[in-house]
Amino acid sequence: MPPKKKATATKKKTTKVVKKTTKKAPAKKTVAKAKPAAKKAVSPKKRAVKTPQSLRGMRDLLPKDAQLWKNMFHTAENIAESYGFARLQTPLVEEAGLFVKSIGKGTDIVDKEMYLFEFEGLKLALQPEMTAVTVRSFINHGMHVDPQPVKMWYWSPMYRHDRPQAGRYRQFYQFGAEVFGEKSPVMDAEVISTAYHYIKDLGIDAQVKINSIGTLEDRQNYLVELVGYLRSKRSYLSEESKKRINKNPLRILDSKDEGDRMVIEDAPQIIDWLSEDSKNYFMKIIEYLDELEIPYVLDPTLVRGLDYYTDTVFEIFYETPDEENKMKELALGGGGRYDGLVEMLGGQPTDGCGFSVGVDRVALVLKQKMHEEGPGEPEKCVYIAHLGDQANRRALRIIEDLRKGGIQVKHNLAKASLKGQLEQASKFGCSHTFILGQKEVQDGTIIVRDMDSGSQETIDQKKIGKEITKILS
Ligand code: HAM
Repeated sequence: MPPKKKATATKKKTTKVVKKTTKKAPAKKTVAKAKPAAKKAVSPKKRAVKTPQSLRGMRDLLPKDAQLWKNMFHTAENIAESYGFARLQTPLVEEAGLFVKSIGKGTDIVDKEMYLFEFEGLKLALQPEMTAVTVRSFINHGMHVDPQPVKMWYWSPMYRHDRPQAGRYRQFYQFGAEVFGEKSPVMDAEVISTAYHYIKDLGIDAQVKINSIGTLEDRQNYLVELVGYLRSKRSYLSEESKKRINKNPLRILDSKDEGDRMVIEDAPQIIDWLSEDSKNYFMKIIEYLDELEIPYVLDPTLVRGLDYYTDTVFEIFYETPDEENKMKELALGGGGRYDGLVEMLGGQPTDGCGFSVGVDRVALVLKQKMHEEGPGEPEKCVYIAHLGDQANRRALRIIEDLRKGGIQVKHNLAKASLKGQLEQASKFGCSHTFILGQKEVQDGTIIVRDMDSGSQETIDQKKIGKEITKILS
């Protein structure tokens, strides 16, 4: 078999050449081996690893903002409970039909913004809002037989696939509250008051805008007039509004387009189409708001972008400069009455009213204010430091006892150096560091160091809790 022989001969020859080279030039051998090793260190596979990113319009709420979010949550919890609301927590995923039926086709949320997917043959959606979900829960759990009114509050993420920008996210949080089973202007005023005071308690001076869009019948009569007017001015309207004339003409009243605004100025106003009952109901709410000293503006063009509203609609705005430093209104919250919604979703006829506040926007305003006014008083803290093994164990015990007694301290038991611990205490801005060394463990004492003056005193370990409470108060 001649070809085989030839191949063997070539192989032998090659091996010999390599051997020869290796013997004669050891330096070259080193170079030849080093090259592939260098290639291995920066393997192309490693370079190709791409860190997953959070999705566009969705954000991590970072530990540095945790205190701000904690304050916003606790203020919400306090105010909701002081107005008699109990917390409702529901799944984030619902049947898509719930939102299509309640918010309505032709609205931005249903037509463009829902996160929809199919699973096990069901059409599902990530909740874009909570009013419909609260109604579903009210019906599912037969709450119409509970003592009325049923008052529920929520704090939950919402999902809307809108174009992201400052204050507009694809996952955002809402704090909201809904009242079922009682129709009275005082209820509407109380709902507005809860939303307004939540924002006010957080230190934001916001404005309430309010309008009535009447009953379904009032609105149908008004729509005939409005559509007639808008058709007569069609050529002056923006492309978006032209499309809305037949689909959702009320939303044109909300348009920010300058041409649209000129047309809207002369448009018929819904207030003139309200029945006597709706008009009186609205006037009574206004009287209650005066009584509660809640500042408001009557806005005949306010209609809101969800179909389920009847009679009262309101929004809470904050004036803030935009990217070009022009003042613009940022809607911090909105709400209204929805008397037909429970029945429309298959429940007993039950009146309802509520609001939702966009907490991410509230956080944005609070951060902006902190930036303008300075961060304010830093949170007080004390640090517990240790030196040596025994002190480390005793410090662990002390920290645990303090925690059980509701006292929080800063510490890092994994850090061995006292200098490092003192530096960390300064970084946290702690006014005092409690230092435990070998001697103190045996004496049952602890050193209290004033971080500003550097002065130190020794106290009994039994008095730590009392001393810290005094410093933090
Ligand atoms: P909404 O006006 O759609 O009403 O939303 C309420 C608030 O959520 C807005 O005023 C805004 O602050 C915030 N928000 C809305 N979309 C976004 C977004 N993409 N990014 C950040 N924040 C946003 C409702 O959701 C109704 N369920 C309110 C209601 C409750 N009506 C009766 N009861």
